[in-house]
Amino acid sequence: MHEKSIELLNKALADELSAVHQYMFFHFHLDDQGYDLLAQLFKRTAIEEMGHVEALAERILFLKGVVKMDLAEETEQIIEVSQMLEKARAMEEGSARDYNIWANECAANADSISKKLFEALVADEERHFDQYDVELENINKYGDRYLALQSIERSKSQASGAPAVD
Ligand SMILES: [Fe+2]
Ligand SMILES: [Fe+2]
Repeated sequence: MHEKSIELLNKALADELSAVHQYMFFHFHLDDQGYDLLAQLFKRTAIEEMGHVEALAERILFLKGVVKMDLAEETEQIIEVSQMLEKARAMEEGSARDYNIWANECAANADSISKKLFEALVADEERHFDQYDVELENINKYGDRYLALQSIERSKSQASGAPAVD
């Protein structure tokens, strides 16, 4: 009965899983380069995307569907910081656009709970977009000095014996 919803929920789940992989990839490389603020932003967001995976899986199972756990796309090996943020921004924009459309499709198929789930996800993805957008603006405005500041912060906390950020 809810075949279409299950298909759309699985497509979204694949999208979310790709985001988890991509953002953790960015997190590892930013952490390696000493940019703690951005490294933490990507890790926090990856954890939120994992929450989205869970919410989608629960809905698929409630509708008696099969959770596929496919990836929508392969992780891109981007290690340049502003390119990371541009990629992340484009991913969030794409998700928000798709979920808006899919919310309407679920409503048209008399599945208001899946519609509401997609709408809640849109709100999160728009917030994620905005966070990445602000960081990209900072880099464009302040250039390498913005990144240098993050490295200095790490050195300062290490010098003062503060515990390393997880
Ligand atoms: Fe998400
Ligand atoms: Fe997101």
